[in-house]
Amino acid sequence: MYDMKALYEAKSVEDAIRLLQEHPEAQVIAGGSDVLVQMREGKRAGVELVSIYGLDELRGVTMDEDGTIRIGSLTSFSHITKDPLIQKHIGVLGEAVDMVGGPQIRNIGTIGGNTCNGVTSADSASTLFAWDARIELTGPEGVRVLPIRDFYIKAGKVDIRPGEIQTAILIPRESYEGYAGHYIKYAMRNAMDIATLGCSVNVKLSDDKKTFTDIRIAYGVAGPVPMRAAHAEAAGRGLEVTEESIEKLGDTVLEDVTPRDSWRASKAFREHISKVLCKRALREAVRRAGGMTAEQNPAASDSETVEPAEKKEQPGAASGASRHTIMTDSESGKQYKLVRCRINGVERETMVDVRASLTDMLRNDYSLTSVKKGCEVGECGACNVIIDGECFNSCIYLAVWADGKEIRTLEGLMGPDGELSDIQQAFIDEAAVQCGFCTPGVIMSAVEILESGKEYTRDELRNLLSGHLCRCTGYENILNAVEKTMKKRLGSTDKIN
Ligand SMILES: Cc1cc2nc3c(=O)[nH]c(=O)nc-3n(C[C@H](O)[C@H](O)[C@H](O)COP(=O)(O)OP(=O)(O)OC[C@H]3O[C@@H](n4cnc5c(N)ncnc54)[C@H](O)[C@@H]3O)c2cc1C
Ligand code: FES
Ligand code: FES
Repeated sequence: MYDMKALYEAKSVEDAIRLLQEHPEAQVIAGGSDVLVQMREGKRAGVELVSIYGLDELRGVTMDEDGTIRIGSLTSFSHITKDPLIQKHIGVLGEAVDMVGGPQIRNIGTIGGNTCNGVTSADSASTLFAWDARIELTGPEGVRVLPIRDFYIKAGKVDIRPGEIQTAILIPRESYEGYAGHYIKYAMRNAMDIATLGCSVNVKLSDDKKTFTDIRIAYGVAGPVPMRAAHAEAAGRGLEVTEESIEKLGDTVLEDVTPRDSWRASKAFREHISKVLCKRALREAVRRAGGMTAEQNPAASDSETVEPAEKKEQPGAASGASRHTIMTDSESGKQYKLVRCRINGVERETMVDVRASLTDMLRNDYSLTSVKKGCEVGECGACNVIIDGECFNSCIYLAVWADGKEIRTLEGLMGPDGELSDIQQAFIDEAAVQCGFCTPGVIMSAVEILESGKEYTRDELRNLLSGHLCRCTGYENILNAVEKTMKKRLGSTDKIN
């Protein structure tokens, strides 16, 4: 159970504003991947929460008439990466948020939460700085929009007034048209690690691709808040596109960055990689913009037409036909909600305490003990289940959000007489199980992978399984099991590594 005083679920943006005014101490919860983890750590113990997770109106990416790209604040990282408008116009943002945590975190974490937490290492933040993003906030006084650099006040503090919520992130046409960019995250691990330093660069080149018309260089973890390297940018405008210019600009960033020592890296190391990452990101951005190595760069073409993404309900989001409201027990003051959902193909209904996680509900109310309690802070994947077709760590998913959802656990994979599914059998055949604690969670990720019907490379599979920790088997056997099942299902005759 989460240590929470009360939970209020907003039904609309206006309702969220009303709830925040009625409960001035309450904090907003979106996907909860920061809030719930901090509650577990005791940092937000006893809080009142206003949940906006069910507000589908804040999900999705659209284009306004003037060409502004509007990213709803509740859009999850994985949906940003897959979105056609993002891919066509500001693909770097999709690449940047694809480096957040692991797949399950990218399914739950929202871009609004990633910016409202005020954290300098947030993977979306430096890229949004490099796109000159604007932040839309809606509150009791109406809507206001401010440049992202004004949104960040200091480490962990952003400009959100009482009663306000962030409703969208806007990228005006002039901020992206004609630009190409690249984001590099330097971290100690390829997955499930926050950035030691992040650098996002956008360039606009002259028509003949020989001159930098504009350059934007943005950093995370190079200061207390995400920042732009103003001196280097000014020095770059009008410069010839040459290797010497790139070297010079990379060295100039030291006039701007102010990193600090931390347990992850020293100030000196961060200064060093500020230069190195800038140069690497610049080279790639220039290549993508058609400069220097234009002949190798058909991808920079802007001619492909992409229709705006249809706005559709996001899996795992808390809306749905059977929405119920939270009730308060007058004697104990405890809050409950009737949660009706489909679990492993069967309609289920139970009254849950609002403080319960989905792990609590699945284990305690439905005896689905394949859903393991491991780290309980979203890091190990032992509690992973499929909600509306996507994987989520159920330990950082409120049980009340399951109302109206389709949930699948390992128990649902077996046949009527307990026959194992092909992927379960493959885990046995490949000796991909020892203690088995991690296994159900890994298998549920494998199910999502297999049901996509796509053929992935071994490296892609490694990435798709990166939200899981196994303490005893080792990952090669797990990869073998998933890869063999994938190839078998697809009828592929390719040799398995
Ligand atoms: C295991 C793990 C790994 C992670 N790895 C990374 C990583 O590699 N890179 C990275 O950048 N992050 C990482 N994160 C952090 C986290 O996933 C992101 O910060 C996420 O974007 C937060 O979004 P959320 O919707 O879950 O926010 P929440 O936890 O719901 O909220 C975060 C904060 O923002 C506020 N808030 C949220 N939405 C709004 C809104 N619309 N209006 C006003 N206030 C709002 C909340 O009050 C809270 O203060 C990781 C987290 C976990 C648990
Ligand atoms: S991720 Fe949920 S228990 Fe570890
Ligand atoms: S098999 Fe033991 S933790 Fe993975």
